[in-house]
Amino acid sequence: GRVPVICIDGPSASGKGTLAQAVAQQLGYGVLDSGALYRVAALAARRRQLDIDPANARQLAELARNLPLCFDGERILLDGRDVSAEIRTEQVGRDASLISAIGEVREALLDWQRQAARLPGLVADGRDMGTVVFPHAPLKVFLTASAEKRAERRYKQLISKGNSATLSTLREELEARDLRDTTRAAAPLKAAHDAEVLDNSEMDVQAATEQVLRWWAERQ
Ligand code: C5P
Repeated sequence: GRVPVICIDGPSASGKGTLAQAVAQQLGYGVLDSGALYRVAALAARRRQLDIDPANARQLAELARNLPLCFDGERILLDGRDVSAEIRTEQVGRDASLISAIGEVREALLDWQRQAARLPGLVADGRDMGTVVFPHAPLKVFLTASAEKRAERRYKQLISKGNSATLSTLREELEARDLRDTTRAAAPLKAAHDAEVLDNSEMDVQAATEQVLRWWAERQ
């Protein structure tokens, strides 16, 4: 496509969302939080009492293709109701990881994701932005951080939003989700062969943003 896309992939809570927002803001680009799509699809399935099981792949894909979804600025509406907070729970995160392992569902969500690429540009964050969804993107960043740092960040994020959490449980959950995401057959989490790897364990958002903007400038 003609629309410039920057991909930011990496494991759970590596800081992809925050970095994507910061980079997009600097460049005046839009943002695609692809994880939110999987979260909404998982929530929609639960609401319809559709088991998140490969045996239901066809129905789940059908649901994912026709999600009654609406983006309203920062808010995400499902069936006309704001679900922005609800999709951030660990329960929905786990369900998202389950539904995302179903190839038919991934396929069904491709259009949603590719439609997000609009001028002047897009910063897309997820697990397979650089490997599957936007394979020709001129800049692909694979963002990592230690499991300890990621659990800490997720913990702070949850607590600041008034949720309860324990650090050790969060870390176990993150590691379980990463294992599932990296070992699944359909679009497993991995760095694209042409990705820039950025470990931001000891880096703040500003430093990471500057690094991504330098890589972007090199490509102009
Ligand atoms: O990034 P986030 O934690 O919101 O993603 C929730 C889950 O959705 C991930 O654990 C992953 O299983 C799945 N996902 C995916 N591909 C993406 C984005 C998210 O499989 N591009």
